[in-house]
Amino acid sequence: MTLLKVEHINTGYGKKQTLFDVSFEMCRNETVLLVGFNGSGKSTLLKTIYGLLKPWDKEGRIWFNGENITTCKPSQLIVKGLVYIPQQNELFEDLKVKENLELSSMQSNNKKGLKSRIDNVLDHIPKLKTVLKQECKRLSGGERKLVSLATALMNQPKLIMLDEPLAGISPKDSTNIVSQLKRLKNDGVSMILVEHRLKDINSLATKVIRLELGKLYKEN
Ligand SMILES: Nc1ncnc2c1ncn2[C@@H]1O[C@H](COP(=O)(O)OP(=O)(O)OP(=O)(O)O)[C@@H](O)[C@H]1O
Ligand SMILES: [Mg+2]
Repeated sequence: MTLLKVEHINTGYGKKQTLFDVSFEMCRNETVLLVGFNGSGKSTLLKTIYGLLKPWDKEGRIWFNGENITTCKPSQLIVKGLVYIPQQNELFEDLKVKENLELSSMQSNNKKGLKSRIDNVLDHIPKLKTVLKQECKRLSGGERKLVSLATALMNQPKLIMLDEPLAGISPKDSTNIVSQLKRLKNDGVSMILVEHRLKDINSLATKVIRLELGKLYKEN
């Protein structure tokens, strides 16, 4: 069953067009790997799906779970189960990891079962237990990536879009992040992964799509 359908997206910044007639779809339980050179439009595509940029014309439409989400805001999309983890991890630096988790959950206005949700996230990412009381500004790069992933999980997503989860991460910590992603995949969470380090992440992908100068090509 189709989870996400992107149709005829033309968009960009100001007058500069970045995406050209981009269309693709993915099913539930798929892990789509989105690849392409620097500046090819990968982050722009994720931002557009997440409602941060709008398609320029009415042919541009985005469907999630059978619903037209083209005009939805990020706060509405989180509630529907679509989350986006940007390339630059946005954490509340002066707050503790646990407080970041609590706040991210409130974004979806669902305060019910906060503790059990945190416990569930910690089951998925046990490494975070050791830094739960630490302020985010004192975390390493790899730990920050895990906290970002954990904040996404607090909202029990159906689809997670991750922009370069392995950027700046050591090989050992990458293995850790990839194994967390595998667990999520096995639990039925769908993903779109943008990554340059294909060797590390290729085994997760059920489909690879490539952007070149803002145009999309399917690899398999
Ligand atoms: N905020 C912005 N304002 C203007 N132009 C932008 C902005 N963000 C990106 N661009 C331009 O849009 C194009 C696509 O950028 P985008 O960030 O989507 O590429 P990317 O494929 O994610 O690259 P990378 O692999 O380096 O992250 C680039 O030419 C970039 O300069
Ligand atoms: Mg990018």
